Amino acid sequence: MNRMAIVGSLWGDEGKGKVVNYFSDKYEWVVRFSGGSNAGHTIYYNEKKYVNHLLPCIKPNNDSKSFLGAGMVIDLEQLVSELEDYEKEFKGYGSRVYIDPEAFLVLPWHKEEDGFLEDMRREPIGTTKRGIGPAYTDKSSREGIKLYHLFDKETLKERLLDNYHLKKNKYNEKFSLSADEMLYYLLNLKDKLLNLKVNFTSAIDMVSIFRNTSVLFEGAQGVLLDLDFGTYPFVTSGSCMAHGVSSVGFSTFELDNVMAVLKAYTTRVGAGPFPTEEEGELAEKIRQKGNEFGATTGRPRRVGWMDLPALRYAKIRSGYTDFVMTKADVLNGFEKIKVCTAYKCGDEIIEVPSTSFDFFRAEPIYEELPGWEDTHSINFLKYITYIEEKIGIPIDYISYGPKTYEMESKSDMIMNLK
Ligand code: GDP
Ligand code: IMO
Ligand code: MG
Repeated sequence: MNRMAIVGSLWGDEGKGKVVNYFSDKYEWVVRFSGGSNAGHTIYYNEKKYVNHLLPCIKPNNDSKSFLGAGMVIDLEQLVSELEDYEKEFKGYGSRVYIDPEAFLVLPWHKEEDGFLEDMRREPIGTTKRGIGPAYTDKSSREGIKLYHLFDKETLKERLLDNYHLKKNKYNEKFSLSADEMLYYLLNLKDKLLNLKVNFTSAIDMVSIFRNTSVLFEGAQGVLLDLDFGTYPFVTSGSCMAHGVSSVGFSTFELDNVMAVLKAYTTRVGAGPFPTEEEGELAEKIRQKGNEFGATTGRPRRVGWMDLPALRYAKIRSGYTDFVMTKADVLNGFEKIKVCTAYKCGDEIIEVPSTSFDFFRAEPIYEELPGWEDTHSINFLKYITYIEEKIGIPIDYISYGPKTYEMESKSDMIMNLK
């Protein structure tokens, strides 16, 4: 059976949504397995733009079904809003969405906590304020609310009372909803989901279906934002790597390939180390041309050059097997392109960071390559061949625009070289 995971190669926003959308109609199921509405995955369908924060990036009116796995933290209000928008245009969309009742909820309290914590930090992380950290914290500290609690009003009420009590004591801040108000807020959203004909089905019940059909796993964020192996503490709180598929009952060994989405340059939103970051005119030029503004928060993304040491580190940590390169078109017409080949860390020159701490002291060492006119120019082929050789995995597809169809295989690209 065909099973592929698509993950972000570095700090997110590489174009995972578009790439998932491109491949989605070859798969029966498209599965989100981690993160929450901190993700913003942009797709175009019939020339219209959609930004999915929680829903997988299927083509909205084909037959693929969506699954939201237990590793996610789900903001029900956001989910209902995304579903209602799709349902208006594509009747029956909700009935093709399945959610694992083991998933945890992001409550409005979590979003408020996210804000309180950011305000208290001496050095804020620059979170999306979507409540992700506090929701995963509650999960680990055993205070979380699972989706299945919505179906047992008494248990839900008790858990909300406990949560409210703990949170009020911890923050000494006023939360906008009382425990009772939260109860009715959640029950109302549950009814909306039921009206939208969403299915609540656990991975346990799905296992024989998943085992006998094709599944595309849609990663969120990127390897360097991973809680365990990213540039801690400037990371998110979920798993950003293919091993997150375990929350849907799969092992990474059962995947045919792990495709990492690689932007032709690098971006990052929020604080934290970014060795190849550029500032000033050049960064602004790439930002404007690449429309590098967060799909979730609208914040300008930080911009920099291709970073090979970071990619080598991410490849080892996440086990990705091939690349899709996106946004190559944004660098069309640049005379020179810089690529970071190694880091200077203190007195040492390293090609692969040993720990995520190395990113904090890395000074980039660059090589310069000639730029290209467009992605059918020989210099572009040289650029991707150079990266393939340095990282040791192939770049199989090239994306040259935001629309789903603006993508081709490397062999087609070579056939069309000028
Ligand atoms: P994701 O979080 O990885 O799904 O990426 P985002 O959707 O947050 O950001 C990627 C942005 O780049 C979106 O605005 C996409 O429409 C756009 N995009 C994706 N691929 C390409 C491409 O190849 N070229 C250009 N110019 N834009 C692209
Ligand atoms: P997609 O899936 C880029 C970043 C935030 C912040 C850090 C922690 O669209 O690629 P959080 O709200 O998760 O606690 O924020 O992680 N971040 C992302 N950056 N793309 C994303 O998702 C991100 N999701 C979180 O900017 O630096
Ligand atoms: Mg994004």
